[in-house]
Amino acid sequence: MLSKYHWWRDAVIYQVYVRSFLDSTGDGVGDLAGVRAGLPYLRKLGVDGIWLSPFYPSPQHDHGYDVADYCDVDPLFGDLAEFDLLVAAARRLGIRVLLDIVPNHCSSEHRWFQRALAAGPGSTARARFHFADGRGPDGAAPPNNWHAMFGGPAWSRVTEADGRPGQWYLHMFTPEQPDWNWRDPDVGAEFDRVLRFWLDRGVDGFRIDVAAGLYKHPELPDSRDPEADARTRDSVNPLAWNQPEVHTVWRGWRSVCEEYTARDGRERLLVGEVSVPTAREHALYVRSDELHQAFFFDLLSAPWEADAFRKVVSEAMQDIAGTGSTVTWVLNNHDQVRTVTRYGEPATEGSGLGAARARAAALLMLALPGAAYIYQGEELGLPEVVDLPDDVLTDPIFHRTGSRARVRDGCRVPLPWSGQASPFGFTSGVESAKPWLPQPDYFAEYATDRALADTRSFWHLYRDGLQLRSALPQLGEGALRWLDSPPGVLAFVRGDGLVCAVNFGTAPAPAPVPGSPLLSSGPCPAGELPGSTAAWWMSDGTAPDTH
Ligand code: GLC
Repeated sequence: MLSKYHWWRDAVIYQVYVRSFLDSTGDGVGDLAGVRAGLPYLRKLGVDGIWLSPFYPSPQHDHGYDVADYCDVDPLFGDLAEFDLLVAAARRLGIRVLLDIVPNHCSSEHRWFQRALAAGPGSTARARFHFADGRGPDGAAPPNNWHAMFGGPAWSRVTEADGRPGQWYLHMFTPEQPDWNWRDPDVGAEFDRVLRFWLDRGVDGFRIDVAAGLYKHPELPDSRDPEADARTRDSVNPLAWNQPEVHTVWRGWRSVCEEYTARDGRERLLVGEVSVPTAREHALYVRSDELHQAFFFDLLSAPWEADAFRKVVSEAMQDIAGTGSTVTWVLNNHDQVRTVTRYGEPATEGSGLGAARARAAALLMLALPGAAYIYQGEELGLPEVVDLPDDVLTDPIFHRTGSRARVRDGCRVPLPWSGQASPFGFTSGVESAKPWLPQPDYFAEYATDRALADTRSFWHLYRDGLQLRSALPQLGEGALRWLDSPPGVLAFVRGDGLVCAVNFGTAPAPAPVPGSPLLSSGPCPAGELPGSTAAWWMSDGTAPDTH
């Protein structure tokens, strides 16, 4: 019997960036056995599941988002036997496991792309990708004017078997990530096989990379605003993203999930990385027969201002939750500057403003109706590492923008677990091991052992928030009602009396309800909501039993 309760609608999932979580071999790179060793820590935190960043065989040009084989484990991270152990251990602890699947593009080392290169123009092997002749007298100009997301043109030219410059192929990210042609039926059939391969191994679902991608305009025409495409890392080119045909793919994948659920009663989850211009378009991806969830990035990109947050939340409630779907909130991930740093700007050394705001934002997110994702280290209040030397940066965006954009390495520095010096317990038992990105000395303050021992830490705030979320029926799914509040303060009620209020300003404001809060992101005297602070109250004053 299937239960009516859909666990994923208000789930809290923890994103494990595998190469930076915990290293079991001492080579400086996190791995699957490390994730398994960290499961008790995650269970203590209280998350419902984990999303594992890609661990498949890959030349790692984009840290695994360039997949060479979708049905195996890169030796860097372990092997299939270790993967099975991880899934079994997670199941025992009640932690669901989501894999990261990358259907928009593969690695140029994928066997099908290698075959396409060898097979030549007009072949069925090339039809699985976007190969096209160039423009101009010698075909020396790319087939259209599209820009790649990570800088430079979206096309690269190949050398044909006879040694001459030949056709071009499309890559919306790096040249090492050729885009699949989803109009070729082989591609969909292959991904169907891949989904089943992992579902048969017991996974609970997939995070889908670039889920508004896959299909391109059938004619691959020139973009009318190539400058805008080049300026932003957002998917703005309307010819390359968000094509209507992509919804057919999500309907197909949903029915594969339903098929597995019908067999064993376990609901699988598809969560899409969907970057589209409006909440209304976003809602189309989470219709009841498509994806279960899609990250709603507007919260992540909102500036720290009450009006901006209110607008984002209201739009999501109206346009996404209003259609019966769940909203999936996120404040951090492996592509973005961490909240502590983002909200602290302009940085005032030692002011602690960014940390206070990040704590308040966490309580806000955990009080919103829907699902939420936490990115590893967020529960420790890790700041972005902003001063990594150029020669250790690995992000292809840095290298493809002529070293102008320092974007993603700073949030990917390996986690500190214990001790006073790098590797801070990240590598098991090998104190001399060198993490793949250097950890700053101040990471000692953020180590998990210190966080667990200090009840004022970020970790305890997240843990307490998660405990209350599971204990209080008012949180999770359901409606949200805004309360009148002074400028710079947001306050809302959930269910029959759970009040959440956030003071975005720096001066104290009156609390929206009398009495002491159940949980607050900072010191919170009765009757007052200090600046840069969020708190939860039961408006009738009764504290629930969370134990
Ligand atoms: C997504 C991933 C990002 C990756 C890109 C290309 O945006 O989150 O890390 O580089 O897709 O696969």
